[in-house]
Amino acid sequence: MTIVLGRERRDELRAMARDLRREGGRPAERLADGLRAVAARRADRDTKRWFERIEAERRRLVRSTDVLTRNGGKVESTVGAVAKKASVSPEHAWTLWQLTRRVGASRVLEMGTCVGVSGSYLAAASGGGRPGGGTLRTLEGHEDRAEVARDTFRRLGLEDAEVVVGTFTRTLPGALDGGPYDLVFVDGHHDGNATLRYVDQIRAASRPGAVLVLDDITWSDSMAAAWTEVQRRLSASAHADLGRVGVVVLGADDAWS
Ligand SMILES: C[S@@+](CC[C@H](N)C(=O)[O-])C[C@H]1O[C@@H](n2cnc3c(N)ncnc32)[C@H](O)[C@@H]1O
Repeated sequence: MTIVLGRERRDELRAMARDLRREGGRPAERLADGLRAVAARRADRDTKRWFERIEAERRRLVRSTDVLTRNGGKVESTVGAVAKKASVSPEHAWTLWQLTRRVGASRVLEMGTCVGVSGSYLAAASGGGRPGGGTLRTLEGHEDRAEVARDTFRRLGLEDAEVVVGTFTRTLPGALDGGPYDLVFVDGHHDGNATLRYVDQIRAASRPGAVLVLDDITWSDSMAAAWTEVQRRLSASAHADLGRVGVVVLGADDAWS
Protein backbone atom coordinates (compact mmCIF):
# COMPACT_ATOMS: atom_id res chain seq x y z
CA MET A 1 0.00 0.00 0.00
CA THR A 2 1.39 3.41 -0.95
CA ILE A 3 0.65 5.98 1.71
CA VAL A 4 2.97 8.81 0.76
CA LEU A 5 1.30 12.00 -0.37
CA GLY A 6 1.00 13.30 -3.92
CA ARG A 7 3.73 15.53 -5.30
CA GLU A 8 1.80 18.78 -5.05
CA ARG A 9 1.01 18.20 -1.39
CA ARG A 10 4.62 17.29 -0.65
CA ASP A 11 5.84 20.49 -2.33
CA GLU A 12 3.36 22.51 -0.33
CA LEU A 13 4.56 20.96 2.95
CA ARG A 14 8.22 21.55 2.05
CA ALA A 15 7.45 25.20 1.32
CA MET A 16 5.78 25.51 4.73
CA ALA A 17 8.81 23.88 6.34
CA ARG A 18 11.14 26.39 4.59
CA ASP A 19 9.04 29.31 5.85
CA LEU A 20 9.16 27.92 9.38
CA ARG A 21 12.94 27.56 9.20
CA ARG A 22 13.18 31.18 8.12
CA GLU A 23 11.00 32.13 11.09
CA GLY A 24 13.67 30.52 13.33
CA GLY A 25 13.50 29.34 16.93
CA ARG A 26 13.24 25.84 18.33
CA PRO A 27 9.48 25.29 18.02
CA ALA A 28 9.53 26.39 14.38
CA GLU A 29 12.49 24.14 13.62
CA ARG A 30 10.83 21.18 15.32
CA LEU A 31 7.63 21.76 13.38
CA ALA A 32 9.57 22.20 10.11
CA ASP A 33 11.22 18.86 10.79
CA GLY A 34 7.85 17.24 11.36
CA LEU A 35 6.45 18.66 8.14
CA ARG A 36 9.45 17.48 6.16
CA ALA A 37 8.80 13.99 7.52
CA VAL A 38 5.16 14.22 6.40
CA ALA A 39 6.46 15.27 2.97
CA ALA A 40 8.77 12.23 2.76
CA ARG A 41 8.72 10.35 -0.54
CA ARG A 42 8.91 6.88 0.92
CA ALA A 43 7.63 4.85 3.80
CA ASP A 44 10.07 2.53 5.57
CA ARG A 45 9.31 -1.17 5.96
CA ASP A 46 8.00 -0.88 9.52
CA THR A 47 5.65 1.93 8.51
CA LYS A 48 4.33 -0.08 5.54
CA ARG A 49 3.78 -3.08 7.75
CA TRP A 50 1.79 -1.07 10.32
CA PHE A 51 -0.28 0.65 7.67
CA GLU A 52 -1.17 -2.72 6.15
CA ARG A 53 -2.15 -4.16 9.51
CA ILE A 54 -4.16 -1.15 10.66
CA GLU A 55 -5.90 -0.72 7.30
CA ALA A 56 -6.85 -4.42 7.43
CA GLU A 57 -8.39 -3.73 10.86
CA ARG A 58 -10.22 -0.73 9.44
CA ARG A 59 -11.68 -2.92 6.67
CA ARG A 60 -12.81 -5.44 9.27
CA LEU A 61 -14.42 -2.68 11.35
CA VAL A 62 -16.15 -1.14 8.31
CA ARG A 63 -17.66 -4.54 7.45
CA SER A 64 -18.97 -5.07 10.97
CA THR A 65 -22.73 -5.00 11.45
CA ASP A 66 -22.43 -5.15 15.26
CA VAL A 67 -24.74 -2.66 16.86
CA LEU A 68 -23.52 0.27 18.96
CA THR A 69 -25.71 1.76 21.64
CA ARG A 70 -25.40 5.08 23.36
CA ASN A 71 -23.95 4.08 26.69
CA GLY A 72 -26.04 0.94 27.01
CA GLY A 73 -29.29 2.62 25.94
CA LYS A 74 -30.69 3.55 22.55
CA VAL A 75 -29.29 1.90 19.40
CA GLU A 76 -26.94 4.40 17.79
CA SER A 77 -25.58 2.79 14.65
CA THR A 78 -23.38 -0.08 13.55
CA VAL A 79 -19.66 -0.35 14.13
CA GLY A 80 -19.23 -0.34 10.34
CA ALA A 81 -21.11 2.91 9.79
CA VAL A 82 -19.28 4.71 12.59
CA ALA A 83 -15.86 3.35 11.57
CA LYS A 84 -16.43 4.51 8.00
CA LYS A 85 -17.76 7.94 8.84
CA ALA A 86 -15.67 9.05 11.80
CA SER A 87 -12.20 7.49 11.45
CA VAL A 88 -9.15 9.29 10.06
CA SER A 89 -8.36 8.66 6.40
CA PRO A 90 -5.11 6.85 5.54
CA GLU A 91 -3.70 10.15 4.25
CA HIS A 92 -4.49 11.88 7.50
CA ALA A 93 -3.11 8.89 9.43
CA TRP A 94 0.16 9.35 7.51
CA THR A 95 0.43 12.91 8.85
CA LEU A 96 -0.16 11.70 12.42
CA TRP A 97 2.26 8.82 11.97
CA GLN A 98 5.11 10.86 10.53
CA LEU A 99 4.73 13.66 13.09
CA THR A 100 4.64 11.22 16.00
CA ARG A 101 7.69 9.37 14.75
CA ARG A 102 9.74 12.40 13.78
CA VAL A 103 9.28 14.22 17.08
CA GLY A 104 9.95 10.96 18.92
CA ALA A 105 6.68 11.19 20.82
CA SER A 106 6.47 8.30 23.25
CA ARG A 107 3.70 9.64 25.49
CA VAL A 108 0.62 10.42 23.49
CA LEU A 109 -2.86 11.60 24.46
CA GLU A 110 -5.86 11.43 22.14
CA MET A 111 -9.26 13.04 22.65
CA GLY A 112 -11.83 11.14 20.58
CA THR A 113 -11.04 7.42 20.37
CA CYS A 114 -14.08 6.28 18.39
CA VAL A 115 -13.36 2.68 17.34
CA GLY A 116 -9.59 3.03 17.57
CA VAL A 117 -8.30 3.69 14.05
CA SER A 118 -6.30 6.89 14.68
CA GLY A 119 -5.41 5.56 18.14
CA SER A 120 -3.85 2.48 16.54
CA TYR A 121 -1.67 4.68 14.34
CA LEU A 122 -0.67 6.87 17.28
CA ALA A 123 0.03 3.92 19.58
CA ALA A 124 2.09 2.07 16.97
CA ALA A 125 4.02 5.20 15.89
CA SER A 126 4.91 5.99 19.50
CA GLY A 127 6.39 2.51 19.90
CA GLY A 128 3.41 0.76 21.49
CA GLY A 129 3.44 -2.98 20.91
CA ARG A 130 7.21 -3.08 21.58
CA PRO A 131 8.63 -3.86 25.02
CA GLY A 132 9.40 -0.53 26.69
CA GLY A 133 7.67 1.31 23.84
CA GLY A 134 5.46 4.36 24.06
CA THR A 135 2.05 4.74 25.62
CA LEU A 136 -1.24 6.06 24.34
CA ARG A 137 -4.04 7.28 26.56
CA THR A 138 -7.20 7.96 24.60
CA LEU A 139 -10.50 9.49 25.79
CA GLU A 140 -13.97 8.52 24.55
CA GLY A 141 -17.47 9.43 25.69
CA HIS A 142 -19.27 6.33 24.41
CA GLU A 143 -18.72 3.09 26.29
CA ASP A 144 -19.63 0.90 23.28
CA ARG A 145 -17.19 2.66 20.97
CA ALA A 146 -14.51 2.45 23.67
CA GLU A 147 -15.05 -1.31 23.94
CA VAL A 148 -14.65 -1.74 20.18
CA ALA A 149 -11.46 0.36 20.32
CA ARG A 150 -10.04 -1.79 23.14
CA ASP A 151 -10.63 -4.83 20.97
CA THR A 152 -8.97 -3.10 17.98
CA PHE A 153 -5.89 -2.35 20.08
CA ARG A 154 -5.78 -5.92 21.43
CA ARG A 155 -6.00 -7.41 17.95
CA LEU A 156 -3.05 -5.27 16.86
CA GLY A 157 -0.98 -6.13 19.93
CA LEU A 158 -1.17 -2.55 21.20
CA GLU A 159 -2.05 -3.73 24.68
CA ASP A 160 -0.65 -0.66 26.43
CA ALA A 161 -3.14 1.71 24.81
CA GLU A 162 -5.50 2.84 27.56
CA VAL A 163 -9.06 3.93 26.76
CA VAL A 164 -10.68 6.20 29.34
CA VAL A 165 -14.46 6.52 29.14
CA GLY A 166 -16.37 9.70 30.00
CA THR A 167 -16.93 13.20 28.73
CA PHE A 168 -13.77 15.17 28.05
CA THR A 169 -14.75 17.66 30.74
CA ARG A 170 -14.66 14.84 33.25
CA THR A 171 -11.69 12.82 31.95
CA LEU A 172 -9.25 15.41 30.58
CA PRO A 173 -8.02 16.79 33.93
CA GLY A 174 -7.12 13.31 35.23
CA ALA A 175 -5.52 12.36 31.93
CA LEU A 176 -3.40 15.52 32.02
CA ASP A 177 -2.35 14.75 35.60
CA GLY A 178 -0.85 11.57 34.15
CA GLY A 179 1.23 13.60 31.66
CA PRO A 180 3.08 15.48 30.41
CA TYR A 181 2.54 14.24 26.87
CA ASP A 182 4.81 14.65 23.89
CA LEU A 183 1.88 14.81 21.49
CA VAL A 184 -1.83 15.47 21.97
CA PHE A 185 -4.37 14.81 19.21
CA VAL A 186 -7.73 16.53 19.66
CA ASP A 187 -10.37 14.85 17.49
CA GLY A 188 -13.73 15.16 19.19
CA HIS A 189 -16.25 17.76 20.39
CA HIS A 190 -15.69 20.09 17.45
CA ASP A 191 -17.02 23.19 19.10
CA GLY A 192 -14.82 26.29 19.00
CA ASN A 193 -15.27 27.38 22.63
CA ALA A 194 -14.85 23.84 23.97
CA THR A 195 -11.72 23.40 21.83
CA LEU A 196 -10.22 26.60 23.27
CA ARG A 197 -10.92 25.36 26.81
CA TYR A 198 -9.23 22.04 26.05
CA VAL A 199 -6.24 23.75 24.44
CA ASP A 200 -5.80 25.99 27.50
CA GLN A 201 -5.89 22.95 29.79
CA ILE A 202 -3.44 21.01 27.60
CA ARG A 203 -1.08 23.97 27.31
CA ALA A 204 -1.02 24.44 31.09
CA ALA A 205 -0.01 20.80 31.58
CA SER A 206 2.55 20.61 28.77
CA ARG A 207 6.23 21.23 28.24
CA PRO A 208 7.95 23.26 25.53
CA GLY A 209 8.31 21.20 22.36
CA ALA A 210 5.07 19.27 22.90
CA VAL A 211 3.02 18.86 19.73
CA LEU A 212 -0.68 19.61 19.58
CA VAL A 213 -2.67 18.38 16.60
CA LEU A 214 -6.15 19.83 16.21
CA ASP A 215 -8.46 18.07 13.80
CA ASP A 216 -11.32 19.64 11.85
CA ILE A 217 -10.19 23.25 12.16
CA THR A 218 -12.30 24.01 9.08
CA TRP A 219 -15.33 22.02 10.31
CA SER A 220 -17.35 25.15 11.15
CA ASP A 221 -16.96 28.91 11.60
CA SER A 222 -16.55 28.36 15.33
CA MET A 223 -13.70 25.85 14.77
CA ALA A 224 -12.01 28.19 12.26
CA ALA A 225 -12.29 31.05 14.78
CA ALA A 226 -10.88 28.78 17.51
CA TRP A 227 -7.86 27.93 15.34
CA THR A 228 -7.18 31.64 14.74
CA GLU A 229 -7.49 32.27 18.48
CA VAL A 230 -5.18 29.34 19.32
CA GLN A 231 -2.50 30.90 17.13
CA ARG A 232 -3.00 34.28 18.81
CA ARG A 233 -2.90 32.83 22.35
CA LEU A 234 0.09 30.62 21.63
CA SER A 235 2.18 33.30 20.00
CA ALA A 236 5.49 31.84 21.24
CA SER A 237 4.64 28.50 19.61
CA ALA A 238 5.02 27.46 15.98
CA HIS A 239 1.87 26.71 13.95
CA ALA A 240 1.06 25.08 10.66
CA ASP A 241 -2.30 24.98 8.93
CA LEU A 242 -2.46 21.73 6.98
CA GLY A 243 -5.99 22.35 5.75
CA ARG A 244 -8.18 20.14 7.84
CA VAL A 245 -5.58 19.86 10.58
CA GLY A 246 -3.79 22.49 12.64
CA VAL A 247 -0.43 21.61 14.20
CA VAL A 248 1.23 23.51 17.04
CA VAL A 249 4.64 23.01 18.63
CA LEU A 250 4.60 24.69 22.01
CA GLY A 251 7.19 27.35 22.71
CA ALA A 252 8.82 27.98 26.08
CA ASP A 253 6.63 30.97 26.95
CA ASP A 254 3.44 29.17 26.00
CA ALA A 255 4.03 25.97 27.96
CA TRP A 256 4.86 25.29 31.56
CA SER A 257 4.53 22.30 33.79
C1 LIG B 1 -14.28 12.03 14.96
S1 LIG B 1 -14.51 10.82 16.18
C2 LIG B 1 -12.84 10.32 16.51
C3 LIG B 1 -12.24 9.50 15.42
C4 LIG B 1 -10.95 8.85 15.80
N1 LIG B 1 -9.99 9.83 16.30
C5 LIG B 1 -10.35 8.13 14.62
O1 LIG B 1 -9.94 8.83 13.68
O2 LIG B 1 -10.31 6.91 14.59
C6 LIG B 1 -14.86 11.75 17.62
C7 LIG B 1 -15.10 10.91 18.87
O3 LIG B 1 -15.10 11.78 19.98
C8 LIG B 1 -16.12 11.41 20.88
N2 LIG B 1 -16.54 12.64 21.58
C9 LIG B 1 -17.06 13.76 21.03
N3 LIG B 1 -17.30 14.69 21.98
C10 LIG B 1 -16.91 14.14 23.17
C11 LIG B 1 -16.88 14.61 24.51
N4 LIG B 1 -17.29 15.84 24.82
N5 LIG B 1 -16.41 13.79 25.45
C12 LIG B 1 -15.96 12.53 25.14
N6 LIG B 1 -15.95 12.03 23.88
C13 LIG B 1 -16.42 12.82 22.91
C14 LIG B 1 -17.22 10.84 20.00
O4 LIG B 1 -18.01 9.92 20.73
C15 LIG B 1 -16.45 10.21 18.86
O5 LIG B 1 -16.30 8.83 19.03
